[in-house]
Amino acid sequence: MARCIIYYSYSGTTRRLAKKVKAACGADSIEVTSNKTYNALTVYPLGSYRASKGEKDPIEPKKIDVTRYDLIILGTPVWAWKPTPAMNAAIAALKGCEGKKAIIFATCGGQPGKTIDIMKKQLESQGVKVIGDFIFNRKDVRDGKKINELIVSVNATITE
Ligand SMILES: Cc1cc2nc3c(=O)[nH]c(=O)nc-3n(C[C@H](O)[C@H](O)[C@H](O)COP(=O)(O)O)c2cc1C
Repeated sequence: MARCIIYYSYSGTTRRLAKKVKAACGADSIEVTSNKTYNALTVYPLGSYRASKGEKDPIEPKKIDVTRYDLIILGTPVWAWKPTPAMNAAIAALKGCEGKKAIIFATCGGQPGKTIDIMKKQLESQGVKVIGDFIFNRKDVRDGKKINELIVSVNATITE
């Protein structure tokens, strides 16, 4: 079963997690980058505002063709209790995703809010079935137990 991890990361936590999953599961990966130039001064007011409004950032790559994958894994940080504007855009940019399965994860400081529910709705409206979801707070990203749960759930799809 071909798998692809699609993720956005502003400060590296989600990227580190995505790389661990990639290494353990042999998946391809696509790091989505935002063309909004957030920095230490703007990321909280601007990033949080845009996330809270459900905005989509201009991203690279502009289109994400997942035709050749059976499972997609999507990871985002939580911003203002919601997915990042880059992840909103990444889900909208999916091509060939109808009928595919997804496992989603979010990293956060401990208050994920509606992030997972929102991503599920966005993916379902694209015809994607979410078969697993994971939230990682600061402790979870360090202790490895939940990372293993995510890896096990991704690898479980091989036999399906
Ligand atoms: C603009 C902004 C808003 C955030 N909002 C939340 C939030 O609502 N809830 C939460 O638990 N953490 C929040 N955080 C913390 C991040 O979700 C957390 O540090 C995440 O793991 C960062 O992932 P990254 O390093 O891949 O960018 C926020 C961080 C930023 C920069």
